[in-house]
Amino acid sequence: MQTKLISDQEVQQYRAETKGTKERIHFNNAGSSLPPDVVVDTVISYLKEEAIYGGYETEAKYSQQLNNTHSLIARLINTDEGEIALVENASSAWGIAFNGIDFKPGDGVIISEMEYVTNLIGYLNAEKTHGIKTKIVYNDEHGNFDLQGLKNAITAKTKLIAVTHIASTTGGMIPVVEIGKIARKYNILYLVDACQSVGQVPVDVKEIDCDMLSVTGRKYLRAPRGTGFLYVRKQILDKIKLSFIDGFAVKSVSLDEFKLKDDARRFELYEKNRAITLGLSKAVEYALNIGIDRIWQRIQQLATLMRRQLNHIDGITVHDIGDQQCGIVTFSVSGFEAPAIKAKLAEKQINVSVGQAHSTLIFMNKHHLTSVVRASVHYYNTEEEILLLCNELGLLLKTVIA
Ligand SMILES: Cc1ncc(COP(=O)(O)O)c(C=O)c1O
Repeated sequence: MQTKLISDQEVQQYRAETKGTKERIHFNNAGSSLPPDVVVDTVISYLKEEAIYGGYETEAKYSQQLNNTHSLIARLINTDEGEIALVENASSAWGIAFNGIDFKPGDGVIISEMEYVTNLIGYLNAEKTHGIKTKIVYNDEHGNFDLQGLKNAITAKTKLIAVTHIASTTGGMIPVVEIGKIARKYNILYLVDACQSVGQVPVDVKEIDCDMLSVTGRKYLRAPRGTGFLYVRKQILDKIKLSFIDGFAVKSVSLDEFKLKDDARRFELYEKNRAITLGLSKAVEYALNIGIDRIWQRIQQLATLMRRQLNHIDGITVHDIGDQQCGIVTFSVSGFEAPAIKAKLAEKQINVSVGQAHSTLIFMNKHHLTSVVRASVHYYNTEEEILLLCNELGLLLKTVIA
């Protein structure tokens, strides 16, 4: 079935429903997107109700909507609500999953060159604490993940394949579905960092066939900061050890023993920020109403336009490589450090960010990059905004040549 394009009229509607779009040109969606007004209003009015009626009383009033958050997320990534745990961010989600694995000395972990800094630290730490051995599968010369290299790297000791679907500092993507087929064939645990992809790209955990997937709320999902979730496949719930358990995580407790909840809520703690949980719920609903396929289609169109325009400017080098690229556009501007470009554009009410080497260290070192300018588009951005960004960059470059 063909995806119906997001029309100009709809873009205008989404912009009208997002206050921030009137103030700035926001190309820092990979940092944190502008939330729709309904998300912000939900959080604020929930907090106000808590202040007047009491936290527990307000929770009771909204219990159905709060509980519905798991189901909405489950719909988003095509799974059951019992496989979702709400956590504060993608790093917590990833940490619960990775550190829950029962590693033995000599166990192998295969990773890609696109790994996020938190994950890299996790591997280095587990090398020290558990004696795991990490192998990196590098992308080929075109920037594509080397599937044959992955097959070659697998041994009888390989316990986990862990990849980052979309890295923090490059527009290329990892073929998570194809990797999932290999992981399943060799019966190896499979963990996907989908922090930058959920909300941007259709992510279907059944299709990817992963065991665990970590996600944040504030980026492409347009949810409040401090939200995130972890997906854990039902069949491996009991394989993931918990290092800290509170009363919410158990279904029963006596003086002699406790029994964990049967579903992924065992990875949650009782106390969480209900206001932003409801905000996350609204953000997921908002994305589902538009349709992730349509969001992805528009993001690709905008990112292609941005790369094309940037490539036409003398003095700009676009760094994104690989056959499949996403809404994260990274580049360098001759004569300027990335932080200077960010600061100059901020003077013109244009938000971009700086991708630091340490965020995606293996990739950045391989490409001899210390930092890049990162302009990340979302569906509510417009062609005009892209042309304005490119125009400003062109003017900045003229100041160097003059
Ligand atoms: C690819 C990737 N993974 C994980 C994270 C960590 O997400 P969080 O800050 O929500 O813990 C980030 C954050 O930028 C990221 O880009």
